[in-house]
Parts: sequence; structure tokens; C-alpha cells
Amino acid sequence: MSRQFSLNVNGAVHTVDADPDMPLLYALRDDLGLNNPHFGCGLAQCGACTVHLDGAPIRSCTTTIADAAGGKIVTLAGLGTPDHPHPLQKAYIDEQVPQCGYCINGWIMTAAAFLNEKKKPTKAEIKDALSGLKCRCGTHMAILRAVERAAAMLG
Ligand code: FES
Ligand code: FES
Repeated sequence: MSRQFSLNVNGAVHTVDADPDMPLLYALRDDLGLNNPHFGCGLAQCGACTVHLDGAPIRSCTTTIADAAGGKIVTLAGLGTPDHPHPLQKAYIDEQVPQCGYCINGWIMTAAAFLNEKKKPTKAEIKDALSGLKCRCGTHMAILRAVERAAAMLG
């Protein structure tokens, strides 16, 4: 049965009517029009749907709206703006990472949460942090360069 949920997304509070088991991803994309988190696998296997919930990267395709309500959700749109990009967004442009771009959301949101926790990470630590993500276009080496570049910017 449908219930009303209050979602705090990128600093704004929204009310969404939904079944408690509905994936958060559907609320973000279909109800709030936030289309950065993508549907890839729907099984927590690829990371395309990643958002932050209270600072931690989560797979919004398998997180229910009931579990996310009450927390602070941040999407890629809340990470930076064209005028004030997050260092990862700037590094992605500098390194010309994207091919099709479908996976970008997952890599940047996962890396952003990681770099919040870990200053000056080694290449091995970055690889480990990003190991659960997929890019069908094979941009992995460029992604690694971009995350290293962003890590250096963040000091
Ligand atoms: S769509 Fe969520 S992990 Fe693939
Ligand atoms: S850039 Fe195409 S899936 Fe990663």
C-alpha cells in the first residue's frame, strides 16, 4: 500500500507517495526528475545508480524508499555545479574520461565518498575502493587518472 515519504535530497525536502518497497532510484528519477543516478543492472552489481545516504555510497536500485527516508541523500547534481564543480567533476573533464557516459554517476559518487574518508590514497587503495563498479566502454585507466588528479587537488 502506498505511503507518504519525506526525502531530503541535495538539501531540499520532497514528499513522495510510494510503496515502501519501491527502490529509491525510481523516486529520484521518476518523482523528482533527478536523472544522474542511472538504472544499469537493478541488482547492486554495476554501481550506475549510486547516491550518497548520510555520506555513504549506496546502490539506489536496491535501497528502498522506506530505508532512505529520514536520511540525507546527495546525488551527482548535488555534488557540484558547472560554475563550482567538485574536483572529481573537474578531473573527469581534464582527463576527458567519458565515452558513452552512462557509468559516470557511479564512479564519481563512489570516488567522492571514498576521497571524503581517505586523504592522499595510493593507486592500489583507489582501485580497491572502485572495484565494484563497471564501465562497458573500458575507460578504467582514464578514470584512475582522474581520481588520482582529484585526490591531489583535495590534498
Ligand atoms: S543499477 Fe544499481 S547497481 Fe546497477
Ligand atoms: S563511459 Fe560508457 S559505460 Fe562507462
